[in-house]
Amino acid sequence: MGVYNQLAPERLPQHIAIIMDGNGRWAGKRALKRFLGHQQGAESVQYVVETASRIDLPYLTLYAFSLENNLRRPKSEVSFLMKLLKTYLVGNVKRMNDNNVRMNYIGRTQELPAEVQETMQWAMESTGRNTGTTLTLALNYGSRSEIVDAVRTILTKLAAEAHGRGCSVEDLIGLGALDTLEEASISDALYTAKMPDPDLVVRTSGEQRISNFLLWQIAYAEIFVTDRLWPDFRGLHLLEAIAAYQRRDRRFGGLTENQTDENLSSLEPADQVAAEIEDQLTPEAQRQLSRR
Ligand code: FPP
Repeated sequence: MGVYNQLAPERLPQHIAIIMDGNGRWAGKRALKRFLGHQQGAESVQYVVETASRIDLPYLTLYAFSLENNLRRPKSEVSFLMKLLKTYLVGNVKRMNDNNVRMNYIGRTQELPAEVQETMQWAMESTGRNTGTTLTLALNYGSRSEIVDAVRTILTKLAAEAHGRGCSVEDLIGLGALDTLEEASISDALYTAKMPDPDLVVRTSGEQRISNFLLWQIAYAEIFVTDRLWPDFRGLHLLEAIAAYQRRDRRFGGLTENQTDENLSSLEPADQVAAEIEDQLTPEAQRQLSRR
């Protein structure tokens, strides 16, 4: 594996999230029905999960079915995706156990058909003791609704606490309940509470959008977009995305390692730079600037 040898093992991402896109286009290019694109996409899932487990990636999260997909796609496509999910789980639990992969889900999964939920539960329990890659499928997932659910959880807890103490929510606020609300309070109320935030988001099929996926959690994630359609995506392409990620300079709002106080102080003062830029403007542009 050439690409694998180029990776720095100590800087592997802890969590990769993938927006799997392009199943329909893959099928359309071959004059096939859309559902065949999804079927081929499920094969890609299998390959990519296998690679993730081989490189000991701790968390892999796949956007398999959004709330919007559920509401806006034809019923026949939604029911095909549900069947495909069941088939995938039934057909892959043994392989997941062989590869030490643990199944997990995020999303309003309680709204999925009962028989799908049963298979999901079974797959999660059957792989629950595995300690390798945690594979999380985002199903009936929307990030804004996840945040709504988190706020509901926080408020419900607050009301329960007030009830327990025999006082009102207002009394609790008076006692400083709002001061204890921090970023971690929100993170801990999201579906992803027990997971680290993604370091890398991969999107296939060239679209440069986040599509309501893990909005809170990807605040500092690197984004890697490839034109490759999801059904053509393989483990090798995951490794290429990781290699690209390792070439990035992650700053989390800070400075790069080589930007020390010393070399920052050698920078020209901002007003000097501004004066130099102004000197280079045309007389008309200088007049406009002085009018502001
Ligand atoms: C986007 O392609 C993909 C989806 C809406 C569903 C993703 C589903 C799979 C990869 C297969 C099933 C998954 C599992 C876990 C078994 P699109 O239909 O939006 O493609 P298009 O934008 O080209 O139309």
